[in-house]
Amino acid sequence: MGKIVVFGSHKGGVGKSTLLVSILVCLHRAGNKCAVLECDDQNSIKDFLAERKEQGITPDFDYYECYTDIAERARKLASRYDFVLLDTPGKKSAEFRKALTCADTLLSFIEPGAQVEINTLSQMVNDVKTAQSSLNPTMQPWIVLNRCATDPRDQDASELRQMLNDDPDWLPVTRQRIYSRKAYKQAYNTGRGVHEHQDNNGNKGRGEIELLLQEVGLI
Ligand SMILES: Nc1ncnc2c1ncn2[C@@H]1O[C@H](COP(=O)(O)OP(=O)(O)O)[C@@H](O)[C@H]1O
Ligand SMILES: [Mg+2]
Repeated sequence: MGKIVVFGSHKGGVGKSTLLVSILVCLHRAGNKCAVLECDDQNSIKDFLAERKEQGITPDFDYYECYTDIAERARKLASRYDFVLLDTPGKKSAEFRKALTCADTLLSFIEPGAQVEINTLSQMVNDVKTAQSSLNPTMQPWIVLNRCATDPRDQDASELRQMLNDDPDWLPVTRQRIYSRKAYKQAYNTGRGVHEHQDNNGNKGRGEIELLLQEVGLI
């Protein structure tokens, strides 16, 4: 059985789709057979893959959509792929709750310093704990700090991680952060993962994605 990795949060604009595609490309390059199951009817990944095709970038990843019997569909796909990556809507949703019933790993993103996200986080955590205590006790959930400031004087990310880790009611926060980098945005906008994006300064994003995947045990 392959692994089902859910990208979810109760908020949009936190980087789910952007990081999903970079993680997809990275997992593929590590020799895994990967598919995307889109459960967000905004269809960001469909648009991304269309852009990718237009740019002539290979491989052309296998793509599926599902909004109803998500767990059943994801498990079926996991019997044929090493990884099934699920994108979910950026709001409280039935799709997210269904995805949680089958997730092996949940990656949820939060931007340090954005107060609204911290508030919506507690409702998201509630959904996760509900799934863990009933249908999916083995799911491994993670909070990843995304769009962190690259200025070393900025303490927002450290303070948020400390606050979340001090309280056992939150979910574990990865040590590895994802910084705010144009490379992620530019790669996504041109149909690429950050590993396929050529950057003049060398690509720090690649290292971040690889270290993150190692930390959460996916590569
Ligand atoms: N690490 C990052 N660095 C720079 N920009 C980012 C980063 N992560 C996300 N973004 C930008 O934030 C915006 C929202 O990201 P998106 O992936 O669409 O969020 P979601 O799927 O959670 O709604 C996009 O414009 C994207 O380019
Ligand atoms: Mg999205």
